[in-house]
Amino acid sequence: MSTHIKDDAYFAKTVLMPGDPLRAKYIAENFLSDYKEVSNVRGILAFTGHTKEGKEISIMASGMGIPSIGIYSYELYSFYGVENIIRIGTCGGYQAECHVGDVILATSASSNSCYATQFDIRGVSISPSSDFSLLLKAYNNALKMGLNVHVGPIYSSDIFYDEDPNFYKKLQKLGILGVEMESYGLFINAMKLHKKAACILTVSDTFVNKEKEKDLTQEERQTKLNDMFKLALSLAD
Ligand code: HPA
Repeated sequence: MSTHIKDDAYFAKTVLMPGDPLRAKYIAENFLSDYKEVSNVRGILAFTGHTKEGKEISIMASGMGIPSIGIYSYELYSFYGVENIIRIGTCGGYQAECHVGDVILATSASSNSCYATQFDIRGVSISPSSDFSLLLKAYNNALKMGLNVHVGPIYSSDIFYDEDPNFYKKLQKLGILGVEMESYGLFINAMKLHKKAACILTVSDTFVNKEKEKDLTQEERQTKLNDMFKLALSLAD
């Protein structure tokens, strides 16, 4: 059925995808009840269990970058009956109002990736976007939780260590809120397969308030990430 996920793995309709396999394990251990590890191919851990409200949900790592999330999200949507994938991760903030520790909900993802060239639609740049119903629910729940939340476009980069340290300024001028490395591939797969996707990010570092704001400490990072995990888990239905 699939070459990158265990054949007999059982997934809930909604899957949360952190990049890091150990983060997937952490969420399962700390937030799910009666969960089971359902796949571990190449160390990409996947768990299915229940939220504290009794809703079935799965957590599976995506690995880093568009090629990696492109493979796993394609297989989950195509071969395992998954309907909703919510990426959860960290991003670098591009705007002064996006402080370290804040939450960003991506409306759309721009990218320097060639992932969309597979469609060969001459002269067209498609605009991969989040599903509106998931986004709206995430936004309302974030407000209820009292989180500092920003909603807007993000950039999914193929490059972490960019040769040009000022490259981000062009995207900043266009109002892009922050940078990560996966959502563009996930959103394109959702478009292609007529499924739903969303992306919830915690700002872990900033490109603009560098002198005033420090990156999150280990402890702050865990608290802020826990808030993001709870928000993502609230999207199970
Ligand atoms: N670049 C790309 N991805 C990221 C960053 C970044 O600065 N911070 C967190 N994820």
